[in-house]
Amino acid sequence: MLIRRPTDIPSSEITPESVYRNRREFMRGAIGLTALGLSGGVLAKPAHITDAEVAGAPWLKNQISAATAGKADSNETLTPYQHVTGYNNFYEFGYDKTDPAAHADSLTTDPWKVEIAGEVNKPGSYNLEDLLKGLTLEERIYRLRCVEAWSMVIPWIGFSLADLLKRFEPTSKAKYVAFTTLMRPEEMPAQKSRLSTIKWPYREGLRMDEAMHPLTLMAVGLYGKVLPNQNGAPLRLVVPWKYGFKSIKSIVKIELTEEQPYTSWSAIASDEYGFYANVNPQVDHPRWSQAQERRLPSGLLRPNVIPTQMFNGYADQVAGLYSGMDLRKLY
Ligand code: MTE
Repeated sequence: MLIRRPTDIPSSEITPESVYRNRREFMRGAIGLTALGLSGGVLAKPAHITDAEVAGAPWLKNQISAATAGKADSNETLTPYQHVTGYNNFYEFGYDKTDPAAHADSLTTDPWKVEIAGEVNKPGSYNLEDLLKGLTLEERIYRLRCVEAWSMVIPWIGFSLADLLKRFEPTSKAKYVAFTTLMRPEEMPAQKSRLSTIKWPYREGLRMDEAMHPLTLMAVGLYGKVLPNQNGAPLRLVVPWKYGFKSIKSIVKIELTEEQPYTSWSAIASDEYGFYANVNPQVDHPRWSQAQERRLPSGLLRPNVIPTQMFNGYADQVAGLYSGMDLRKLY
């Protein structure tokens, strides 16, 4: 992956995240949960984002409005909405960080079907609306650490992948989960390019125990709103302890497999991008250090460089998944 400078978003366009967080705290307080030391309650919407700014099916907007504030909150400063949605990697729309926001409007996300296939008792092709029926949406504030050594803190809205997978009854042969992004070159211009290094569609995978881990999220929104297209609408994976490239966007197929699945970046350069891709400050990328990261927004005057944490700070919850594994070899 190429390392690029963060986009210079004028400070006048950056709404302080405190507007969002304060409203959220206010809403929690209003229903008395803060006093009890509990999370939960109705999500506050960021005051500065209008409905018209974010596309999305009405039923999805309604479901997101009813999402509850989650338990695994981070107290770190949220990355402003303008950066989360203006500085992206979504190579289907181009290789510059600003390309996804500039071009992803062309993506049609409604209707949207997801195929559930492979080692499950109940395979099938499901409308997103049916897939989400009965699932409780909640907010989870997670750090996102890109392999390129920048990071953000994002309030996602979604549900546990485990809750989804259980419904389709994985068989005893299900050892991995393979994910595939939409292939639609007429709406995703880079999929037409003959120069592209990625063999489309973009694909990713997890081991079954990683997929079933309670931290593993399927996101449909962020900042209390429907996911903007550039962030992987209408459905993306978020695996907060792994490098961002594992968090595949705009998913159309979820297949449970017996063998370790094909994954796009490790297929391009297996010495640089492993299947596991756990955030690990002790194992450098062959071309740069992974010991530190630029927490966005960052600039020349305020680089905002911070140490990278093992498993991106989620070691307490996930280190056990890898006990006995040599993480230098299985990076
Ligand atoms: N998913 C698809 N389909 N295509 C991509 O190019 N980029 C990945 C990941 N998911 C990518 C993708 C990378 S490298 C990162 S760091 C994250 O998305 C970025 O997510 P964000 O743009 O929402 O911050």
